[in-house]
Amino acid sequence: MKNNKISFVQTIKIMVRSFSFIGKERNKYLLGWVLSFGEIIMIFVTPFIYEKLVYMVKNNFSDNDFYILFVMFGVFLVITPLICIGTYLRNTTAYYGASLLKKQLFSHIQYLSISEFNEYKTGDYISRLSTDASRTVGMFSSAPFTGLVKFIVYLIFGTFLLIQIQWKLAVISILLCFISIFFTVLFNPKVRALENSARKAAASSITHIIETLVATPVVRIFLLQNVLSNNYFKSCKNIYDKKVSFNLWSGYTYATLNFFGYITQPLCFGFAIYLTTKGTLNISQVVFAAFVTDIIAKAAMEANTFIQYIQPSLVSAQRVFEILDKPVEVNISGQNPCIKSNSENALEFKQVSFSYPNGTTVLKDISFNVKKGETIAIVGGSGSGKSTLCRLILGMYKPQQGKISYFGKSINELNISDIRGEIAYVSQDCTLFDCSIFENIALGKDNATEEEVIMAAKEANIHDFIISNVDKYKLLVGDRGTQLSGGQRQRIAIARAVLKNGSILLFDEATSALDPETEAQINENIACISKNKTTIVVTHRLNTIKNADKILVIENGEIVEEGTHNKLITSGGKYKKLYEMHLTA
Ligand SMILES: Nc1ncnc2c1ncn2[C@@H]1O[C@H](COP(=O)(O)OP(=O)(O)O)[C@@H](O)[C@H]1O
Ligand SMILES: [Mg+2]
Repeated sequence: MKNNKISFVQTIKIMVRSFSFIGKERNKYLLGWVLSFGEIIMIFVTPFIYEKLVYMVKNNFSDNDFYILFVMFGVFLVITPLICIGTYLRNTTAYYGASLLKKQLFSHIQYLSISEFNEYKTGDYISRLSTDASRTVGMFSSAPFTGLVKFIVYLIFGTFLLIQIQWKLAVISILLCFISIFFTVLFNPKVRALENSARKAAASSITHIIETLVATPVVRIFLLQNVLSNNYFKSCKNIYDKKVSFNLWSGYTYATLNFFGYITQPLCFGFAIYLTTKGTLNISQVVFAAFVTDIIAKAAMEANTFIQYIQPSLVSAQRVFEILDKPVEVNISGQNPCIKSNSENALEFKQVSFSYPNGTTVLKDISFNVKKGETIAIVGGSGSGKSTLCRLILGMYKPQQGKISYFGKSINELNISDIRGEIAYVSQDCTLFDCSIFENIALGKDNATEEEVIMAAKEANIHDFIISNVDKYKLLVGDRGTQLSGGQRQRIAIARAVLKNGSILLFDEATSALDPETEAQINENIACISKNKTTIVVTHRLNTIKNADKILVIENGEIVEEGTHNKLITSGGKYKKLYEMHLTA
């Protein structure tokens, strides 16, 4: 995308790819075009009408002449409703195609590998999903593409008709037509580059809006309203500046185009009149030729409309296809569908090292294993790499070195969806959707019954709270769960994970937002649920993991200690220090 030049071949490829989204509606779309050709017929009938009128005025008109004129006007009457239906078909099929493209793009974004996904900001995704996707397929309904078709037809038939009258007129008008196209092509790269940067500026402005709205409480508490409004104005001003330059260059193109468009007809008309003095043309032919040269001038205008306005659509299509061409998560359809096996290990890390795409090395030479049914705890200071380790367990990133295996099989052999299907995960910043409590919990399992949802809510210690509300399980949690407290949100997320019934439970500081009493209750329940399951708990509440089969202590991305609570306390290392600090906190 850094290079704004799109070759002719690329343009054709982009258009063909964009057109493919019209898909099954293709026939309807083409029928729309056939009907829309009525407009072109009307344009070409007009010179004949004028020629006939002049002829009739100059000569003694007969009934036959009236009859021909009547038929010509009749053509207009018949064609008008057809044009209406044609436009309707073209536009609706293109809108439908845009919806298909949006669906594919939306789905692709959700499957993008996390490192690719993180390359773009939310606003960027929104602008690509909305404006860009609409414009990509919309190019087949709007002015630019219509312009291309009209240009071709006007030029071919206009030239043909003019040659019948006088070839010199055809040469003059075609020459002027191509000079004006030349100027548009000349200004074109600049216009496209400006359009592209305006689009980027618009995307960053959307990101700014989202960030501000999501962070409303912080904005109010830290009195950031003015600062953020000013920043928003700056981003709007940035869009404005880009648009001003864009419109300036579009203006040059438009003015040049008009100049040549408006001089074509008078020049040809003058030349045709001159030819009457030589006896080459008669007056009705002059009138006819004047209207046909106008059609060729219109062809130039349509070509320019196409070149100029196709740019935003091409830029949009490039932005959309850029995302569609990004790789999705690896192993999304791995060959090995079942991850269960006889291996005694549920999970194994062997000398795993990992850096984020920005180069930050976070995990170094991590080796551990978790036997089926075991509970292990991961502890360590903030930023030590605990959540990153969870992300690797969930297959969100691939380690640069080492091997991760589930039930004895390497992650590379497995389908990532199967791995995630086995893991019930609760994170610290648990995400709820803007729907009822019931629906939020039920997301854990396909076709979950009411009994199952209630059971899961009881195990997560949230059932009593839910039924104390008037709406009970139908209570809406609001945008991202804002109607609930942090602890309530977390318990609903835990209920969802319980309902998922995966064979591996993964809790990343899942009880951090709870008060000690609720946390103790939930931990009892978690202990109950996790009896026959492999459980991995990341926590900084060390009193809750005394019974874990194994505790891993992480510092700066390395495992510095490993063992049971008693063993680690006895050895008097890092864990003991952390534990003592926790007790005195
Ligand atoms: N998406 C990311 N891109 C780059 N660095 C990251 C990303 N997420 C976390 N980090 C860095 O990785 C380190 C470990 O983070 P994290 O695993 O979240 O720690 P913990 O969960 O132990 O607090 C931190 O230094 C953090 O800045
Ligand atoms: Mg963390």
